Amino acid sequence: MNAFVFYSPTKVIFGKGVENQVGREIKAWGGTKVLVHFGGGSVKRSGLLDRVEASLKEAGLDYVLLGGAVPNPRLGLVYEGIDLCRKEGIDFVLPVGGGSAIDSAKAIAIGAVYDGDVWDFYDGKAVPTEALPTANILTLAATGSETSEHSVITKEEGGIKRGIGFPVLRPKFTLLNPELLYTLPPYQTACGITDIMMHTLDRYFSKGGCNEMTDRIAEAVLRTVIQYGKVAMENPTDYTARSEILWAGSISHNDMTGLGLPGDWSPHQLEHELGGMFDVAHGAGLAAVWGAWARYVVDADVMRFARYGVNVWGLNMNWEDPAATAEEAIRATEAYFASIGMPTTISQLLGRALTEAEVEELAEKCTFFGRRTIGSLKVLGKEEIKDVYRAAL
Ligand code: NZQ
Ligand code: ZN
Repeated sequence: MNAFVFYSPTKVIFGKGVENQVGREIKAWGGTKVLVHFGGGSVKRSGLLDRVEASLKEAGLDYVLLGGAVPNPRLGLVYEGIDLCRKEGIDFVLPVGGGSAIDSAKAIAIGAVYDGDVWDFYDGKAVPTEALPTANILTLAATGSETSEHSVITKEEGGIKRGIGFPVLRPKFTLLNPELLYTLPPYQTACGITDIMMHTLDRYFSKGGCNEMTDRIAEAVLRTVIQYGKVAMENPTDYTARSEILWAGSISHNDMTGLGLPGDWSPHQLEHELGGMFDVAHGAGLAAVWGAWARYVVDADVMRFARYGVNVWGLNMNWEDPAATAEEAIRATEAYFASIGMPTTISQLLGRALTEAEVEELAEKCTFFGRRTIGSLKVLGKEEIKDVYRAAL
């Protein structure tokens, strides 16, 4: 087994009605004045925000509300949140919503205690070493941001989307109630299912595999999401399905599914540029590029793709032609994405093909303007990145 460090200290409180404990929990973590951060209004419409406010009041906590986090959350609102924290003397940040509200809140939490520009962290110019404590109430199983050490923010100027991962971003606790997912539109449920799968796949397909225990956890997460994803798409209020997906979402991105492996992460990097330039939903962008990426790299580890096909999709191994099993596994994944309404090409994602100038710009941004390559199964430089975008049609 390859060596690894596993540190995932977020406390998980899971079950019906757990959001009503939020005031008590924040108080136990020493919070006195809370910034409650949310998105475009789903938490108001569902009545969740009212319950959160009631719980904070009951615990005797002061709070300030800041809504408006959008999908692909923007830097401008992060600056606003930082100012608000300083002005109001906030000592705890509580996002209520999906990954966008949580990521925005994490950025606010590191920015509020930093003298420089918070974008420095996303631009690789500084490393955050302290933060206001955060926790969260999750309403969308997808990003894993509820337990992850990551935050992804988009800078409006130039449409630059950047992700970071640092231990100080790890939430203190997360409150996971599967019933909060019942109101999700089908498209968001499907994007979430895809993202959860991709957090495991981007670790599973990696240079330097395999750690058997880690691989088996990864395969179990994938099988669970695939099975219950279908159920949730058909019956949005199926408690069992929502529960399984919700917990899989956290496990998928708390590092458990990739211990001892560097991961590859090219699909995520390719999507981030699409999200930054075209403001597409993250999960949909991942589905649109995954097949093209997989076919581009499959010959680097045919047996790994074939194993994935056998253990996750129940395919029969073709020992005479493992590449055929690998291709079948890629096709099964694409067919699943299509069956839940996800695009499997960029044309389907955007409603048109990319122009050559856009391919060039996406690839340039994806290399951080010539500062990096991506991937580990196959290392992709600018030309290879362009090839994959072109192959994704
Ligand atoms: O804004 P509101 O009104 O809340 O509506 C949201 C939004 O329109 C809606 N929604 C959320 N929960 C709902 C609901 N509608 C009805 N009922 C509910 N229960 O869904 C829409 C999408 O929400 P958003 O938070 O944007 O989605 P998601 O959770 O997929 O987050 C996407 C962002 O996270 C980043 C993505 O790149 C993207 O910017 N990621 C963050 C990661 C991390 N921090 O670890 C890792 C991921 O790979 C990802 O990059
Ligand atoms: Zn993701």
